[in-house]
Amino acid sequence: MDDKKIILSGIKPSGELTLGSYIGAIKNWVELSDEYECYYMLADMHAITVRQEPAELRRRTLEQLAQYIACGLDPEKNTIFIQSHVPAHAELGWVLSCYTMFGELSRMTQFKDKSAKNEENINAGLFTYPSLMAADILVYQADLVPVGDDQKQHVEICRDIAVRFNGIYGETFKLPEPFIPKAGARIMSLQEPQNKMSKSEQDSGGCICILDKPESILRAFKRAVTDSETEVRYDPKAKPGVSNLMQIYAVCAGKTFAEIEAEFSGKGYGDLKATVGEAVVETLRPIREEAARLLSDKAYLEQIYKNGAERAARAANRTVQKVYKKVGFVGK
Ligand code: TYM
Repeated sequence: MDDKKIILSGIKPSGELTLGSYIGAIKNWVELSDEYECYYMLADMHAITVRQEPAELRRRTLEQLAQYIACGLDPEKNTIFIQSHVPAHAELGWVLSCYTMFGELSRMTQFKDKSAKNEENINAGLFTYPSLMAADILVYQADLVPVGDDQKQHVEICRDIAVRFNGIYGETFKLPEPFIPKAGARIMSLQEPQNKMSKSEQDSGGCICILDKPESILRAFKRAVTDSETEVRYDPKAKPGVSNLMQIYAVCAGKTFAEIEAEFSGKGYGDLKATVGEAVVETLRPIREEAARLLSDKAYLEQIYKNGAERAARAANRTVQKVYKKVGFVGK
């Protein structure tokens, strides 16, 4: 048990959980949870880098917790917690921000995207976000960080910060590796398949949420944008819409692209869209039902996040104490 390698990952409760975050992240968290010691958090501190309505943030955080468990994350096996309940993240985040360079933060794609979208609120937290995310990971001495493709750059800067710190103070942090799934690392919008499926997406038809009703999922797939050909073939550059549907189907039905091409040879896009829609409905149905059941038991959820925070804090505080000593803070 003690020599198990460590995983940390998290999702911001800044919007409803999407099919993208399920396929790109949570599904893999569940699969990795036997082999690793896992810390999975609800990244509420990261969520406030973009303005949130307080009551909504609270509601979504609890809903997200219920969905983590409904997706198959066993709270006995995994440490599931809310980021703001473990002060070590903010403590180490501050220290690491003093070892993160202005230049490297300026190069972050997510910062550039988000600041372009939130021109009226380009706050310091949005800019130093990667230092806090590095703290999330390094505070548990994580070996592996399972994320979608869009978070790879943040795991890379985390490694750079760790290397820099270790270079000055000697071996302090383990260097984490990103774990990016082979299929489903970047699920695209159903309406604009050249863009990532995103919870912040304005138009609703492009994004599927885990808690969406079957009718609305089927409708969204029916309206999914494809191309002017008729052939079901995997080619993300030339056929982003069809390839995205194939990716989603491959993951939900456990099929290879070759199998899917064979299944739809001689059939039209209408068949493909209906079949993928059904597969997604069946994948999400048990999760939606279990999440609803869990949400009606607030005491159970509270017990999970309280236990989780206690367990997480024990591990995280050790790293913070080590770091405080290394940088020269007087011990208490
Ligand atoms: P967030 O909240 O934007 O996204 C959550 C996770 O879902 C993945 N994801 C996708 N994967 C495939 N296709 C998509 N369309 C898609 N949309 C989202 C993301 O890659 C991510 O894995 N900064 C993080 C949260 C975070 C974190 C951490 C992650 C905070 N601290 C420490 C790992 C380790 C974020 O904004 O993810």
